[in-house]
Amino acid sequence: MPKAILVEKTGAPSVMKFREVSLGKPGKGEVTVQAKAIGVNFIDIYQRTGLYAVPLPFTPGGEMCGVVIEVGAGVKGLKVGDRVATGTAGTGCYAEAANLDAGKLVKIPEEISDAEAAAMMLKGLTVQYLICQTYRVKKGDTILVQAAAGGVGLILCQWAKSLGATVIGTVGSDVKARLAKSHGCDYPINYTKQDFVKRVKAITKGKGVPVVYDSIGKDTFPASLDCLQKRGLFVTYGNASGPVPAFPPAMLAQKGSLFMTRPTLFNYASTPEELRRMANDLIKVVKSGAVKIEVNHHYALKDAAKAHRDLAARKTTGSIVLVP
Ligand SMILES: NC(=O)c1ccc[n+]([C@@H]2O[C@H](COP(=O)([O-])OP(=O)(O)OC[C@H]3O[C@@H](n4cnc5c(N)ncnc54)[C@H](OP(=O)(O)O)[C@@H]3O)[C@@H](O)[C@H]2O)c1
Repeated sequence: MPKAILVEKTGAPSVMKFREVSLGKPGKGEVTVQAKAIGVNFIDIYQRTGLYAVPLPFTPGGEMCGVVIEVGAGVKGLKVGDRVATGTAGTGCYAEAANLDAGKLVKIPEEISDAEAAAMMLKGLTVQYLICQTYRVKKGDTILVQAAAGGVGLILCQWAKSLGATVIGTVGSDVKARLAKSHGCDYPINYTKQDFVKRVKAITKGKGVPVVYDSIGKDTFPASLDCLQKRGLFVTYGNASGPVPAFPPAMLAQKGSLFMTRPTLFNYASTPEELRRMANDLIKVVKSGAVKIEVNHHYALKDAAKAHRDLAARKTTGSIVLVP
């Protein structure tokens, strides 16, 4: 029997237990994937703590790269031995092997390693929709990225830079500032030392930016709004510090007739066709070298709790993978 992380009640990282689990045959439309590397994401923390509701018990993890070892009924285009990855599985990936929906899997070319694939699917597909769909970043734009040295952040900075944008990013230390700078962030701002609203205004000569990508939530609200130019777009896509509090819509008028969206990957890569289009874009920028997937932390699968503690404590940069 394969082993997996199991959460029977929500709470602290210690609720994640490493257990043998029974894995049946793949169902209709599913394949069994033997995990080679598993991505760790902030959403896994939201699910473990109960901020995002998931029926209990569950195995966390929505990002994995592995090899198909069994194919269920009705699956087309995948066979035993194919190397595949997912970023939209939702849950179930913190496991040595899992039955996954074939429609949520993408074949991975050999130039991309198991760890890179496991680290890039959820985060890289998120960046694809953020900068190619939610707001189309173009040459000449100056954009603001919160948490620029994180998993999503490093990918976002590099990809936006490759599209010709000037990237301003916030980070929590000088080490992270240097890392962001070497990954396409033209103006890293260490928010522990500098007021990021003032710096953004100074860099943009008082105008502000057309879009803010904010994954921090509570702590950067409403300051992120103050970085926007008139009719700019506030993209609040995460809650690393807690959710954005309720606020009156009139605030958007007062701060410049702003737009706001609260997107999620699952509404962008919501069909196999959308997923394939987005994954093609991602694989292209990674293969070209425009975006390097920085897997800066490896943990054994059984040590998932430690990975969660380090991610929540802001000790990590770039991507984290669990090794089964
Ligand atoms: N909506 C979507 O579709 C979607 C998809 C993927 C990810 N996300 C979101 O994107 C964000 C980034 O995810 P990730 O997995 O790549 O994580 P990450 O950015 O690697 O880690 C989070 C970073 O946020 C910063 N941070 C600021 N305040 C924090 C706080 N109170 N607690 C913890 N961290 C804080 C820290 O960087 P500093 O030290 O530099 O401040 C930390 O390293 C998360 O909010 C996640 O939910 C959203």
